[in-house]
Amino acid sequence: MSLRVALLAAECEPWAKTGGLADVVDALARSLGRLPEAGGELRAPVDVLLPRYRSVPVPPDAVAEAPLEVPDPRGAGIVTARIVNVAANGYRLRLVDVPAAFDRDGFYDHPDDPWRFAVFCRVALAALRRDGTPLDVLHAHDWHAGPALLERARGEAAGDPFFADMAAIVTIHNLAYHGWVGNDGLGQLGIRRDDPLAGPNPDGVDLLRTAIERSELANTVSPGFAAEALTPAFGMGLDGTLRGLGDRFFGILNGIDPDVWDPSTDPVLAAPYSRDDPAGKAASRADLLARVGFDPDDDGPVLGMIGRMDPQKGFDLLADGAADLLAAGARIIVQGSGHASLADPFRALAAADPRRVALIERFDREMARRIYAGSDLFLMPSRFEPCGQGQMIALRFGTPPVVRRTGGLADSVLDVDEHPGEGTGFVFDAATPSALVAAVGRASRLRADPVAWAALRDRAMAADFRWDTGSAPRYLEAYRRAVALRRG
Ligand code: GLC
Repeated sequence: MSLRVALLAAECEPWAKTGGLADVVDALARSLGRLPEAGGELRAPVDVLLPRYRSVPVPPDAVAEAPLEVPDPRGAGIVTARIVNVAANGYRLRLVDVPAAFDRDGFYDHPDDPWRFAVFCRVALAALRRDGTPLDVLHAHDWHAGPALLERARGEAAGDPFFADMAAIVTIHNLAYHGWVGNDGLGQLGIRRDDPLAGPNPDGVDLLRTAIERSELANTVSPGFAAEALTPAFGMGLDGTLRGLGDRFFGILNGIDPDVWDPSTDPVLAAPYSRDDPAGKAASRADLLARVGFDPDDDGPVLGMIGRMDPQKGFDLLADGAADLLAAGARIIVQGSGHASLADPFRALAAADPRRVALIERFDREMARRIYAGSDLFLMPSRFEPCGQGQMIALRFGTPPVVRRTGGLADSVLDVDEHPGEGTGFVFDAATPSALVAAVGRASRLRADPVAWAALRDRAMAADFRWDTGSAPRYLEAYRRAVALRRG
């Protein structure tokens, strides 16, 4: 059997990105597109449906389908949409263009988000239906795709054959964002309080929970986080729901695409380098330091940190430990966008000591690559981390990561002291500035031994997280299993 699969997501690199979700959707879809050659089990190309936000560029060779009309989820009227198809990297990107919902600034945080994503899901499913081929697997990502499970339930209740054999899997990238819709917003989803679709919560609908409860399978993006998510401390109120799934909830570690992240071909680096020929890393370091206004001749450790400015990521631990780190001779480069207040301490530190602290307060793909390549250590002191991508990229760039022992970080970085001869980075436990400072201290002591450091760097660069042989086949397996569950 050849499966037809569609991914529904609110982000996809490079079209629309605020975080790792975008990279994962793109990389998984690319990799799935390469699997048919191996087994013929997936119908190619895989579809990725993405809202067409104002900032999404439509390439000149994109192909627009005839307009599509769907009933407005709010009850009255119709919504007219365009589907714009783009031959992306081995998959078909399908932009769901509904100007009233998406031709605005920003992707999220509009008061009518429930309606916006309900429209997105309804139009996406209508487009998939119009193709005339049954959809075997609906792969929903995060809460934004949750309304698709409401659509399926509605269709099923109405005896609509399009939905009968459509299996669903929801991937949870971020358990902290639920897509909560209070009772006063249910009209945006087209459901009444007394509707069975509204579910058991008397106060409203949790779209992530809806997706989890109504899909055949649910997964998160690492085995470590999957285990943590079952506990009240990490479950964000959904641990009970997830426990209720038993083995229908599991973790699949994300990968990275080694061709997308490759210091030997990266045109923004001052000098290419690789595991076999790592010399260019020093030139990339010097270039980074010059760009941020640091002294390139100072050999003290340069600590890089990149991420969404979100409490999850632990920027505050670095800010609170910064004085000790600087006193020990380290320098700090932080890049992030998001909650501006989390950047305040770094703004102050950079103003006070611009030769030792740099803040790049924007989303900048090229600068990010320079930081991955040019830093001596890459920091990820996350409070929780479903998978994390920065640590994998840093490994690929030969920059040992310093990470908290949580979720996907613990699954992808081996501590050098706990695994002599095998370790790839530095892992610490407590979510405290002092634990972070101590881990950087351990790293600095090892760095004083050039032979040991070169060996660590070599092991880091040898770490293999490629999708094609790792996680993409596991998704294919999950798709098969979801179909089997659906068809009983
Ligand atoms: C979210 C998670 C992160 C994960 C990413 C992609 O951003 O916070 O841990 O790597 O999704 O799955």
